[in-house]
Amino acid sequence: MKKIYLAVLCTLCALSAQAQSLPAYLDETKTVEQRVEDALQRMTLQEKIRVIHAQSKFSSAGVPRLGFPDFWTSDGPHGVRPNVLWDEWTQAGQSNDSCVAFPALTCLAATWNPDMSAAYGKALGEEARYRGKDMMLGPGVNIYRTPLNGRNFEYMGEDPYLASRMVVPYIQSLQKLGVAACVKHFALNNDEPNRMVVNSVVSDRALHEIYLPAFRAAVTEGKAWGIMGSYNFYKGQHNCHNQYLLNDILKRDWQFDGVVVSDWGGCHSTDQAVANGLDMEFGTGTDGMKSRSKNAYDNYYLALPFQEGILKGKYTMQQLDEKVRRVLRLFFRTTLNPQRKPGFLCSDDHYATARSIAQEGIVLLKNQRHVLPLNLGKGKRVLVVGENAIKSLIIGGGSSNLKAQREVSPLEGMRAACARYGATVEYERGYVGDVNAEQDGVSSSIDLNDERSADRLIADAVSKAKGADYVVFFGGLNKGAFQDCEGTDRKAYDLPYDQAKVVDALARVNKNIVYVNLSGNAAALPFVSRVPAVVQGWFLGSEAGEALASVLTGQVNPSGKLPFTWGNTLEDYGSHALDAYPGVWRTNIDKQDENTPQIDEEYKEGIYVGYRWTDHAGRRPLFAFGHGLSYTTFKLSGLKADRSSMQRDGSITFTVNVKNTGKRAGAEVVQLYIHDAKASVDRPYKELKGFRKVMLQPGESREVSISIDNSALSFYDEARHEWKSEPGEFEALVGTASDNLPCRLKFTLQ
Ligand code: BGC
Repeated sequence: MKKIYLAVLCTLCALSAQAQSLPAYLDETKTVEQRVEDALQRMTLQEKIRVIHAQSKFSSAGVPRLGFPDFWTSDGPHGVRPNVLWDEWTQAGQSNDSCVAFPALTCLAATWNPDMSAAYGKALGEEARYRGKDMMLGPGVNIYRTPLNGRNFEYMGEDPYLASRMVVPYIQSLQKLGVAACVKHFALNNDEPNRMVVNSVVSDRALHEIYLPAFRAAVTEGKAWGIMGSYNFYKGQHNCHNQYLLNDILKRDWQFDGVVVSDWGGCHSTDQAVANGLDMEFGTGTDGMKSRSKNAYDNYYLALPFQEGILKGKYTMQQLDEKVRRVLRLFFRTTLNPQRKPGFLCSDDHYATARSIAQEGIVLLKNQRHVLPLNLGKGKRVLVVGENAIKSLIIGGGSSNLKAQREVSPLEGMRAACARYGATVEYERGYVGDVNAEQDGVSSSIDLNDERSADRLIADAVSKAKGADYVVFFGGLNKGAFQDCEGTDRKAYDLPYDQAKVVDALARVNKNIVYVNLSGNAAALPFVSRVPAVVQGWFLGSEAGEALASVLTGQVNPSGKLPFTWGNTLEDYGSHALDAYPGVWRTNIDKQDENTPQIDEEYKEGIYVGYRWTDHAGRRPLFAFGHGLSYTTFKLSGLKADRSSMQRDGSITFTVNVKNTGKRAGAEVVQLYIHDAKASVDRPYKELKGFRKVMLQPGESREVSISIDNSALSFYDEARHEWKSEPGEFEALVGTASDNLPCRLKFTLQ
């Protein structure tokens, strides 16, 4: 025994002697901060400068002398983007860079299930690891301010609480694998066509209550290692180097210890970048090394201009070290993290994750006469119509463009599912929208050209619809410019390509028509009263067809809920009703840097975004925030609380009974909103402050509890620059959608 003890002791001594001989930055027994400091003091000025800016389109340099590898980023946020050439946006033409395309983040938000976010982050992280990526450029949590925004599909809806709860598990499970999240676009990036020039003018209340909470949760709870600044301006400064957003709020108030990454080309000045919070500069200029005699990356604002400024005494070494420390911390969390596992690509498990998220996110908006699920059997005939039944909805959209290993189209999914019942599927195009099937060298093999006239296309679809048992129309938007696409917003709320006319013509000859809308945004549905069933099917990625068919045929009971308000018209959105999007235009002459003209966009609707606006304006949207039906029914009853009043530092737990009163197993989302009966400031009528998704067998009931604390009652006090709750009466409103809250309970804050 004594011998063993001595042997162990000797081994420990030997190990510790070995550890002592290691430089501190390599010594894993030291804290990350100690290792960062040690590495920092070993680095030359040139080495420090090299790690804070790009060296290629998506990578930055490591420190080879110290054994620190290059750092690789990738879009983001729905899968790992195919590799581009070192210095160009052109595809690298590799054959091993296809991925699983996961559903767009609006779909993830529509699951209202944080476990799905965790599964998303894990699967994505494993794909990133296999592909050698150290940071994923996502997730995005900009708030859904207008349904015209071209990038809403990359975000998590209109509600700051929902987006907060959904973003945190994504980040945590991604980063658990040693892959950094880069949460974007911080902040107020709500106008795509004008994103380079807009100065977002927003009240402090709207900023803190609507636009920042999801970012705050990402940082303070998710512990995100990266944040991407946005292109636009706030208070007259570019958001990639913005004193208020980056230094004051992000780094001081939220104690963010990660890196601020510029959006690609979002850095505009060395002075501003040095002083106002930017840590890593990417994407400046798009010509790269080709058109210049000197390495263009050396010309980055945070490259030689910064280095020379330090040598001349214009900038300090402390300013540089502040940034390098953050980058080194990032290295120790990612590239130098000994726990990292290799990961894998396109596994069955990843496809299963993509499929489950898609299935849980699909929203059944309307289902009269129980048209859905389709009642299929031998000899039944289903007519599928619409361009989105065959068009790739993974390709396009800008930086989220993916090269998917496979994409099951809705038509393929329907064919396979219907065949299992002995039913047949026919297809008609109905309309021709956007025949482009390519972005950045990624293309689909499906030829979308069709020479028929619009009238002919309708007539052909109508003639087949007459004899069909069901017509399932897959329409909506796509990832082309001025649809759901980065860099452009939609020009109108209407569905494009006269789809409404086609749906109307079909509805006239077949009463069993199901309209499936594929998009990241709401759109006008003028035919809604003439079709019995409407489904929101998002952009679902690789498993789109499988997931849609499983819900339409009833293999899966839908349980998604809208993460945004679906207006009848644009008037149902505060930003449009008040003519605040794109807003009042004037050139701001107090510009801070370069010669970029800024244009003010005033967020006149303030805190009244989404359902907060429809409540405030007394409007009934077409489909409310949180709405989503099931093939079974649920009843909520007996709302009670564990106490009738809350202490300032206390909490209240609300419990409600949920019963599945139908004949199928299904999941329901219990939603808790808080109404402040009387306040010294204007407050929304209600705000989402808790939710829980529960799965119930037919006849089963369960008590569902949701706890809130003081933060659920507070508002942002503009005078004191802090969150404040006022004693008095509040009411808990509990139900299954923002317009269906049958259970109410009053309580007080002491
Ligand atoms: C987008 C970012 C993206 C970056 C890199 C920018 O244009 O706004 O979201 O991550 O490009 O592709």
